[in-house]
Amino acid sequence: MKLEGKSFIITGGLGSIGGAVAIEIVARGGYAVIFDMMPEDAGTMKIQQLTNGDKYFYQQADVSKQESMEQACAEALKKIPKGSLFGAVHCAAVNPCREWSNKMSDKLKDFETVLRINAYGTFLVNAVVADAINSQYDALDTYHERVTEERGCLINLSSVVGHETPARCLTYGPSKTCVLGITTAAADFLAPCGIRVNSVAPALVFSALMNNGDRVRYFQGELDAYSMFPRRFTQPDEIAHSIIFLLENSMMNAFHLKVDAGWRQVTGWQPGADPRKRVVLE
Ligand SMILES: NC(=O)c1ccc[n+]([C@@H]2O[C@H](COP(=O)([O-])OP(=O)(O)OC[C@H]3O[C@@H](n4cnc5c(N)ncnc54)[C@H](O)[C@@H]3O)[C@@H](O)[C@H]2O)c1
Repeated sequence: MKLEGKSFIITGGLGSIGGAVAIEIVARGGYAVIFDMMPEDAGTMKIQQLTNGDKYFYQQADVSKQESMEQACAEALKKIPKGSLFGAVHCAAVNPCREWSNKMSDKLKDFETVLRINAYGTFLVNAVVADAINSQYDALDTYHERVTEERGCLINLSSVVGHETPARCLTYGPSKTCVLGITTAAADFLAPCGIRVNSVAPALVFSALMNNGDRVRYFQGELDAYSMFPRRFTQPDEIAHSIIFLLENSMMNAFHLKVDAGWRQVTGWQPGADPRKRVVLE
């Protein structure tokens, strides 16, 4: 499937991964409609600085609110070439960073927030964008009537901690596990409309947020503990390339792609230590 001439909504497109995805889509002749929280004027100004500025559009949208998403999609359809909406790359999400406490109930508020934005937001984006894609065709009149043409593809961003969730991701992790479930269910639900749905799970992606000595040290420790190889931050364009693969390959559907350098909670080779020897705790 070629991206040329096709339009994609990129939620969280002002962020690191969303921004890299938009650049790759436009480089392949597609159009990128960026949905993010920034007000209309400021967001539009920001994306106009990109090369091929006429292939980027900006729309303020809150992915956790139905009315906002529906309005943003309606506006997006007016901006892009007629009939060209083909999919979405859903990057918008939040990850609350709060001081550690040993009481699980201290995390309830965070859990409500991440479920609303990361989980409900994913369901909402998939639903509203699929409706917008289908609105470009004749309505499907009969339940289970199947189309034969490929109409679109949605990519949801999960996380390695959505696959295996450690305590430090007590609220964010389960919200990303929901993304996996929504992806599989949506792929099955939208199959009769010719729309594929996949997810991508990064480990630690380098972003502006991490450009700070303490954070880099903390996260490098995580990479040393859990990544197999390479033990470094992923660059946003490395995630973008795997998203492009899923968009372009028509046979990829209901698939959860980990792009994580073999991140597993089971590894832990210490420099110089033989991993086959039992660790003796002092
Ligand atoms: N960066 C990482 O290390 C990492 C690791 C695993 C998974 N992920 C996932 O990848 C995706 C993209 O991450 P990123 O590093 O580009 O994040 P980022 O923080 O750089 O970008 C996220 C963007 O989403 C927007 N956003 C937040 N809430 C929104 C809302 N309610 N409505 C609309 N926009 C909203 C923000 O304004 C921001 O521009 C996220 O789903 C994240 O959970 C990231």
